[in-house]
Amino acid sequence: MIQLKGVGKIFSNNVVALSGVDLEIKRGDFVFLVGPSGAGKSTLLSLLYRGVKPTRGDVVVNGVDVKTLRHHEVCSFRRKLGVIFQDFKLLPDRNVYSNVSFALEVIEAPPKDLSRRVGKALDLVGLTTKAKARPNQLSGGEQQRVAIARAIVNDPILVLADEPTGNLDPETSRDIMELLSDINELGSTVVCATHNKSIVDEMRRRVIEMEHGKIIRDERRGVYSFEGPFY
Ligand SMILES: Nc1ncnc2c1ncn2[C@@H]1O[C@H](COP(=O)(O)OP(=O)(O)OP(=O)(O)O)[C@@H](O)[C@H]1O
Ligand SMILES: [Mg+2]
Repeated sequence: MIQLKGVGKIFSNNVVALSGVDLEIKRGDFVFLVGPSGAGKSTLLSLLYRGVKPTRGDVVVNGVDVKTLRHHEVCSFRRKLGVIFQDFKLLPDRNVYSNVSFALEVIEAPPKDLSRRVGKALDLVGLTTKAKARPNQLSGGEQQRVAIARAIVNDPILVLADEPTGNLDPETSRDIMELLSDINELGSTVVCATHNKSIVDEMRRRVIEMEHGKIIRDERRGVYSFEGPFY
């Protein structure tokens, strides 16, 4: 599903955000990306949805080498992905239904198909009764659930989440992570950058830890921070 080989990213201000990153993520995997602020987590996610291009190395997502994507191909490439951010990024003047259906209107889905798929996505995130509400009438957790419904309404093969619980209380954060886990069970590969130690420690999924732009740990059933053996 995802292969990175010798990937480096240097921004125009000469900041080295990633260097020498090798990584393979298989279809159906659920991966937490952890590490201190500035470690390169968001940059890595951004490479995967082609928000930025690698400076060196290869990034292959679902068989597509993202470097070779032409401008007009980026949109159709992203349609197979669902991306979720810390700050939700909802459209304030559209209601919940319309925020979710927007992703399908863009691809000109037939109207019947559209309402069925939006209904299913809202049902999955538990927001059927809030379909007519505007984002500013919702709690943070509800807004994030709308963002998740929007991300999954296209049945993405890959869901990328960048600190999806960064603005939420512990209880709501747990609900959101469980939702991502459910989405993973339904077949989407999930990569989630997070600082949420307690949830990572509870869920025991694959954990990739980054520091200074490099992967320093990759564990199958990992925890947030590796405490070395006690002597
Ligand atoms: N667009 C950009 N232009 C220049 N430098 C950038 C840009 N985006 C990120 N950086 C730099 O790249 C490095 C990695 O940033 P990144 O946002 O990937 O870190 P992060 O691990 O997501 O951190 P956080 O946990 O705070 O979100 C940092 O030094 C950051 O300042
Ligand atoms: Mg970040």
